[in-house]
Amino acid sequence: MDRKKIESLVNEHETPLLVIDHDKIRKNYSEFRKKLPRVQVYFAVKANSEPKIIKTLYDMGASFDVASLPEFNLVFNMVKYLEPEALQDFIWNKIIYANPVKKPDSLHVLNLYKPLLTYDSVEEMRKIKKHCPDAGLLLRLKVCDEGSVVKFSNKFGIDPKLAVDLIGETIKEGLEVEGISFHAGSQCNNPDNFIKALRSVAEVFAEAEKRGLEIGEKRTSDHAIKIVDIGGGFPAQYNGNENCFGKLTEMINRELDKLFPRENTAIIAEPGRFLVANAGTAISKVVLAKHSTEMPCYHIDDGVYHTFSAIIYDHFEPNLETFKKGEKIKCKVFGQTCDGLDELSENSYIHNSKDAFLPKLEDGDLIYQENIGAYSNASATNFNGFPPAKIIHINE
Ligand SMILES: Cc1ncc(COP(=O)(O)O)c(C=O)c1O
Repeated sequence: MDRKKIESLVNEHETPLLVIDHDKIRKNYSEFRKKLPRVQVYFAVKANSEPKIIKTLYDMGASFDVASLPEFNLVFNMVKYLEPEALQDFIWNKIIYANPVKKPDSLHVLNLYKPLLTYDSVEEMRKIKKHCPDAGLLLRLKVCDEGSVVKFSNKFGIDPKLAVDLIGETIKEGLEVEGISFHAGSQCNNPDNFIKALRSVAEVFAEAEKRGLEIGEKRTSDHAIKIVDIGGGFPAQYNGNENCFGKLTEMINRELDKLFPRENTAIIAEPGRFLVANAGTAISKVVLAKHSTEMPCYHIDDGVYHTFSAIIYDHFEPNLETFKKGEKIKCKVFGQTCDGLDELSENSYIHNSKDAFLPKLEDGDLIYQENIGAYSNASATNFNGFPPAKIIHINE
């Protein structure tokens, strides 16, 4: 975003701001569709659940991955005016509840809509059988997430060696297993994670077939359509040194065509950050510039408890910019709360924190951070009574 635009938004709205550019979201969605033409795109709402973002992606034809009943309701609110049959079709075909652990009362509500759900244990399967027996199920596999910035394999996914037994048990309980899902780790800079995971899925399908277990659904044809859910993980370009989306998707496409025939497999994905990370720019103001200290210290009106919570929860590495000219000097940048942890520059509390370098700033100068549209406002708090940054949507 250019200087004129940032300054005019600040004049109109004051700081702190998080500006979301919907042109970028549309561009990201189109690029994803173009590079992975076989894949139905379920936006992972958790990355940024702003209703206007959901609306933009809905208008583009996206589907949605939700992790909780409130996220389900955000999407539901957009489609609740549809005729009952169209509403049911939308929920069945375009929403996945992809949290492998669900509360019974949520399942109870969801059962009304015959939802698509993920699970990864016999215990969750039994809970689904009791509270949401009309669901379609995807079994989530544990896969390699080496080289991915945010990992999930410590928490989710069944060992592929045990998967077919659980599929058998699930079918025996009278539930429908629609397919397999995995997540190769968020901001995945290692394409091999996807390739290995796809091969594991193919092996599970082959073993299930050998044992006579039918995976998939026969709604639209006489043979079952299996779902392969390749999760999220598609890397956003933060500093330019990330793995290239083009190369990753070429490898995925090649593997998909090798392993999964088009006529009996539907491929879906749950990208979050890829669709929204580069659409967000945080703008804050220096509240106090200290030059009497050993190193310049800038206290700003956003911070680690707010938009920059991405540093803690998403391993985000800030790259702060300003409009001031001059030599960039090593400095400290602090958030607005009373906690020592609330520092955006290198500090002993946050293991991935990095030194900050900025030209000499004074009170009232602006600082901005690009590429902070994913997992940022999503985890902002009201700590110390400071509300999260105001969200401004442009190019809606
Ligand atoms: C089940 C699931 N799907 C999709 C995503 C989105 O991942 P990403 O933002 O890396 O695309 C996540 C992230 O936590 C997830 O847990």
